[in-house]
Amino acid sequence: MRSTLSGTDARGLAAAATGRLRAAGSPTPRLDAELLVAHAFGRDRTWLLAHPDAVLDETAATTLAGWLERRSVGEPVAYIRGFKEWLSQRIITDRRALIPRPETELLAEAAIDEIAARLVRDAEPISAWEVATGSGAVTLALALRFRTALALGRVRLAASDVSPEALELASENLSAAGVAGLVALGCGDLLDPPVLPSPLRPDVVVANLPYLTTREATSGEGSLRFEPPAALDGGTDGLAVIRRLLTQLPDRLGPGGTVLLEIGVGQADVVRELVADLPMAADVGTLRDLAGTERVVRIDRS
Ligand SMILES: C[S@@+](CC[C@H](N)C(=O)[O-])C[C@H]1O[C@@H](n2cnc3c(N)ncnc32)[C@H](O)[C@@H]1O
Repeated sequence: MRSTLSGTDARGLAAAATGRLRAAGSPTPRLDAELLVAHAFGRDRTWLLAHPDAVLDETAATTLAGWLERRSVGEPVAYIRGFKEWLSQRIITDRRALIPRPETELLAEAAIDEIAARLVRDAEPISAWEVATGSGAVTLALALRFRTALALGRVRLAASDVSPEALELASENLSAAGVAGLVALGCGDLLDPPVLPSPLRPDVVVANLPYLTTREATSGEGSLRFEPPAALDGGTDGLAVIRRLLTQLPDRLGPGGTVLLEIGVGQADVVRELVADLPMAADVGTLRDLAGTERVVRIDRS
């Protein structure tokens, strides 16, 4: 592949790379190719399209050939490039954590709306906790949106994960954006992280827990083979981790508290039933994603 790439102009590179990735079975060969070729130039896709005659030097062409090799065996572009554009932020991505998905932007936006509404309504500081933060994408969105309120102590923000590797990545993402000092990070199981000083009774809990069935998580489909199994596997019916979080709520969520929970396709009815069975009074609603799927469950404790 190297000999084909060196000396070829950007337009030719994109075409050759697209053909290669299409033959390898990528579902989005042109997009992947353009992202990787642009990255080899140290630029983005817009630049690439505007500079069809640009030529890569030998070293960059060799690097690109390696990236195409990796993409050809299914490794996601976000792991190859080392970042993902998500909710207008650049999230550092690698195998320590799940690549943030477009549908999770809905969860982050719902959390932003909820905290913003509480800031207007409540005089007391608002405690928000993202459980299972992974790369830290959602928490980063909250920290950037409420940077001033966090600095003033009007909002307190915590994020946790059971995976120390994921937390390391989350910490790197927060540091890269200059907001690490505004977030308490803790390692531990669901709402139990032993090292998290506060908030122990959060006003707002945000979580995108693993919700694939074990069968789906281990199918090797798409990027799943490259992502941490603990970020994906929700047990036989996909709801094992979510079920455990729900059972913690009566003890851990204060009166008037809100939980925002991303769920998988077709899980809304079961989650509604699970909440109805909890020994606490709560209203349950859902938010739909752009495909019309009930994607975020909202639980409001009375
Ligand atoms: C679907 S990923 C979500 C990551 C990130 N919040 C996002 O939306 O991109 C699920 C995350 O849950 C974490 N996790 C799995 N089981 C957990 C548990 N029992 N307690 C806390 N975190 C858990 C995994 O390590 C992983 O980072």
